[in-house]
Amino acid sequence: MAKNISFPLVIVLFSIFFFLVNSSKAMPSFNVQRYGARGDGRTDATKPFLTAWSLACGSSSQAMVYIPRGTYLVGNLVFWGPCKNIITFKIDGTLVAPENYWSIGSSGYWILFAKVNRISVIGGTIDARGAGYWSCRKKGGHCPQGARSISFSWCNNVLLSGLTSLNSQNMHVTVHHSSNVRIQNIRIRAPSGSPNTDGIHVQSSSGVTVSGGTIATGDDCIALSQGSRNIWIERVNCGPGHGISIGSLGDYANEEGVQNVTVTSSAFTRTQNGVRIKTWARPSRGFVRSVVFRNLIMKNVDNPVIIDQNYCPNGKGCPRQVYSVT
Ligand SMILES: *[C@@H]1O[C@H](CO)[C@@H](O)[C@H](O)[C@H]1NC(C)=O
Repeated sequence: MAKNISFPLVIVLFSIFFFLVNSSKAMPSFNVQRYGARGDGRTDATKPFLTAWSLACGSSSQAMVYIPRGTYLVGNLVFWGPCKNIITFKIDGTLVAPENYWSIGSSGYWILFAKVNRISVIGGTIDARGAGYWSCRKKGGHCPQGARSISFSWCNNVLLSGLTSLNSQNMHVTVHHSSNVRIQNIRIRAPSGSPNTDGIHVQSSSGVTVSGGTIATGDDCIALSQGSRNIWIERVNCGPGHGISIGSLGDYANEEGVQNVTVTSSAFTRTQNGVRIKTWARPSRGFVRSVVFRNLIMKNVDNPVIIDQNYCPNGKGCPRQVYSVT
């Protein structure tokens, strides 16, 4: 009798064993600590992060880059694609930028995903510690151009979910020359006086959705620049900041238009603007078409809805030719 039971049992155990072996093969995980990263907030972990990336990116099966709990000091991180398969970039820890703002500020980017298709970036906190850089800017000193915190350029099929981005030197999240990008439950925070710290900046990209999230910055919560198409924004809490903007447009004579934008079910609290369209009064082929703003709550907002075809933020030195972006 006992033998009759144990034989099926052995088969079950073998099946579980093979299942585990196969599933771990299906998703190898490259833990940055294995390549020398230490979550102590002091040891430079830039190289270990890049090593984990290149192994994951070169993996012929789906792969994960894994960042365990802890605080990791990282400088410029450029994660190049294309990769061989789907990548999951899972962050349980916090990434911090070096104290010296020149370190990331001179390249324009802190964390950049370039030419990557099919990637999910899940969780985590990134803190660019931009305060020193902003005060350099405010003093009008000799400052670097400033780094965007996390950027996706020439990427397709991106999920960015549950990220917290703090104190960017410049824009917090940028999506440029990309398509099918979903940004979910993002939290972005920088002081209301911090210069040019846009929350999310989209340009020359199509199929970008932002759903759920809290954005508090010194500039636009979300800015949709030239060539933003098929954009869906819902359930975003914006403020303080300058609101959700289309523009500035009219930067160039020959620029792509903005088309099919919906902003819905969102709230604006203590913002300079709610929703706005801003264009420079300069000859341009740019345009804005099919925009829907609906179901928006404004609390203590200076300009709930504003369309400015003669954008001139500092009141001087602006083009005054024509209202040409239509
Ligand atoms: C407009 O954008 C939405 C959201 O991205 C998309 O689902 C829809 O298909 C687009 N409509 C057109 C006409 O392209």
